[in-house]
Amino acid sequence: MFDDTKTGFSTRAIHHGYDPLEAEGALTPPLHLTSTFAFATAEQGGARFAGESEGHIYTRISNPTTDLLERRMASLEGGEAAVAMASGMGAITSVLWSFLRAGDELITDKTLYGCTFAFFQHGLRRFGITVRHVDLTNPLALQTAISDRTKVVYFETPANPNMRLVDIAAISAIARRHGAKTIVDNTYATPVQTRPIEHGADIVVHSATKYLGGHGDLVAGIAVGSSEDMAEVRMVGVKDMTGAVLAPFNAMLILRGLKTLQLRVERHAASAQQIAEALQQHSSVAIVHYPGLSDFPQHELAARQMNGFGGMIAFELKGGYAAGIEMMNRLRLVRRAVSLGDAESLIQHPASMTHSTYTRDEREAHGISEGLVRLSVGLESVEDILGDLHQAMGTNESAAA
Ligand SMILES: Cc1ncc(COP(=O)(O)O)c(C=O)c1O
Repeated sequence: MFDDTKTGFSTRAIHHGYDPLEAEGALTPPLHLTSTFAFATAEQGGARFAGESEGHIYTRISNPTTDLLERRMASLEGGEAAVAMASGMGAITSVLWSFLRAGDELITDKTLYGCTFAFFQHGLRRFGITVRHVDLTNPLALQTAISDRTKVVYFETPANPNMRLVDIAAISAIARRHGAKTIVDNTYATPVQTRPIEHGADIVVHSATKYLGGHGDLVAGIAVGSSEDMAEVRMVGVKDMTGAVLAPFNAMLILRGLKTLQLRVERHAASAQQIAEALQQHSSVAIVHYPGLSDFPQHELAARQMNGFGGMIAFELKGGYAAGIEMMNRLRLVRRAVSLGDAESLIQHPASMTHSTYTRDEREAHGISEGLVRLSVGLESVEDILGDLHQAMGTNESAAA
């Protein structure tokens, strides 16, 4: 097989880990639609279970199609190994159940995706794990809060939904000094725009439902990290605890999505930049949160840590909640839907939808305002997305603004 260790991102996204000539010339990797694998002998089966011989046993542990996706994602994120799972939440729960025990402490940022927040608040806490929300945009706050009990430091960057960024290198250096693992949810940035492991993180998790799959036709998750950590996630977190195994068919769809990941993310980001700038000029808009805007409070960190500024925008209208809902209801092209990273532009209202797992007081304390609207910029012609937003905001301001 040709050595692709020095090739570019998209070359690896298309070729890494697969040689058609080893699979009867099939350009597309075969789909191994099987739950179990036959052993040549009983002894061989026993040796596989004992970890003394390589080979597949059962698809809850591994599967050749899923294995190719895992190797490709490890290559794209710059990790040693990966484990693909049934959903982003499957990945987050499997990883954390693998590394936390009763009595341990998890430190996490203030802003998190709604179900991750709910898992931490209502899941982990129920099992004797202390969860502390610390402002991780300020490394000094972590320095003050961290203790020997802290086993994991967890955050999203950019965070869902308000786009705040965390300095991965600064936070992971502090965590490492205290023996804690840094786990980063890289769903928003994707490895095209941020590779947290290169900045010092230990584990990256994704909702592969989003940009990695890219077509809104599946739900999946993936974790990337060291071979040792991923063996723990596979053999403990997934095999014995959550069982959140990815269907091989979905692995195949994500492999297809990865081939165009860089192209798509670059287009999402170029359109998002144009739309964020236009929204900022619009008389009905109170505030736009987009890391590519020069007055975004963490623009300098974004320029240093990210390779592009992503396809997600959060914004608020001057009329607050009511105006946001009214605008959403007038849209004709942009779909009112949760999820993100699809070809279709999607808009949603975090306080009543993805972040309704927070109470109103929690949202206020965690920086998620009631009027915030979240836009996942799709791959449609940017002038059409802009035109729809402008007509929905009920003004005659030019779509080219
Ligand atoms: C940042 C982030 N992480 C994790 C998840 C959970 O992923 P899934 O819906 O695939 O379980 C989501 C879902 O929206 C998300 O936005």
